Amino acid sequence: MTLFRHPRILAAALCVSMTAFGATQATRAIEPENPMALRAVMQQLERDLQSVTSAIAREDWAQVAELAPGIGKHPQPPMREKMRILAWLGTGAGKFRSFDTQTHEAALAMGEAAARSDGHAVIAAFAKVQQSCLACHQNYRKSFKEHFYAQ
Ligand code: HEC
Repeated sequence: MTLFRHPRILAAALCVSMTAFGATQATRAIEPENPMALRAVMQQLERDLQSVTSAIAREDWAQVAELAPGIGKHPQPPMREKMRILAWLGTGAGKFRSFDTQTHEAALAMGEAAARSDGHAVIAAFAKVQQSCLACHQNYRKSFKEHFYAQ
């Protein structure tokens, strides 16, 4: 059960999701067409990467350094959803987690490069972040949606 490495952030995500989605949470299990909390996490990652792209264009390395940790240590879905995902992954949980680790490590490298104002290294690490996103999506997105959204 080590898919999600940051219990403090998980707790924070839980609080946010309970506040924001408290009313719908109870019905989620029987209404699979409702988005999984993971989707909102992904949409935030998308926005963060877009912000990094703008910061790179402006050579605003301080901004990249500020954004990078949030990409590496992105929030986790609520515990109940996490359990559903882990149950679905079964013995494949380690592989799924390894893609998340790749994102984490590439984002860390990007933040370190930004702290050194090393634009080339930032861009190389940014590419690795994107590759880690793509790798997980190519392996899991379709089957995830088929399983959890019956699409
Ligand atoms: C460990 C696996 C994994 C990693 C790593 C990952 N994703 Fe995802 N991502 C998923 C899954 C699974 C879905 C499908 C979720 C759904 O449809 O509810 C998804 C869906 C998405 C979506 C579509 C959301 C929507 O509105 O349909 C975006 C955008 C996205 N991810 C962005 C990213 C970005 C950016 C990164 C890298 C920084 C990333 N993801 C890394 C597993 C991953």
